[in-house]
Amino acid sequence: MNAPAAGAWPDELHTACGLLRRLQPGDAQALFEGITGDREVTRYLGWRTHETLDQTRNLVSYELARWQRDVARTWVLDLPERRVCGMFQVIGQGPTRQIGFALARRFWGRGLATDAVATLVAVAFTHPSVYRVEAVCDAENDRSSRLLQQAGMKLEARLGRYILHPNLSPQPRDALMHAKVRREE
Ligand SMILES: CC(C)(COP(=O)(O)OP(=O)(O)OC[C@H]1O[C@@H](n2cnc3c(N)ncnc32)[C@H](O)[C@@H]1OP(=O)(O)O)[C@@H](O)C(=O)NCCC(=O)NCCS
Repeated sequence: MNAPAAGAWPDELHTACGLLRRLQPGDAQALFEGITGDREVTRYLGWRTHETLDQTRNLVSYELARWQRDVARTWVLDLPERRVCGMFQVIGQGPTRQIGFALARRFWGRGLATDAVATLVAVAFTHPSVYRVEAVCDAENDRSSRLLQQAGMKLEARLGRYILHPNLSPQPRDALMHAKVRREE
């Protein structure tokens, strides 16, 4: 990965597997085809699977606005052939930041998401005010929990009835909390 300037949220990050670049309005179609409209990929996400491209356009607009307000940043993972295959986020403003991620199904099992998440964790810690980077996943989302631990986070706890995953249940479900923390004073 390239060395980001301390405290910046770069528009582009070169990872071992591809380019993480800032989300753009034109990404909606590829995201709908690979991620937001796929029932398997959205199974453990916090919103319902999209039925229409317009729903994904709205999500993209929402995320572009969140970057403008500096409350959340979303990058897409572009492979060398310029194929958008993933969506990765760092959310929050204070000492704790949350990571979110999803990869189109045909790209699972190659280490792409581990690489992208590890890159964003490293970027988050270039901000001197960030002390904790965390990620929560559904207690049954084994792939996600494995990825987070491979990306350097510790599995901290199982949180009862913590998270809503509307594609699975209207009721909150158990979740796994993972984190990497800055220990030095
Ligand atoms: C979570 C998700 C991104 C994980 O995808 P993934 O393909 O399993 O993760 P990676 O791309 O990092 O690949 C890791 C797998 O690739 C394998 N792999 C192959 N080459 C690798 C490499 N060079 N480096 C690391 N892993 C590699 C690993 O063995 C691992 O497989 P295993 O865990 O079965 O042993 C994907 O399942 C997804 O998008 N799910 C839907 C959205 C979602 O649930 N997001 C999480 C919300 S909290």
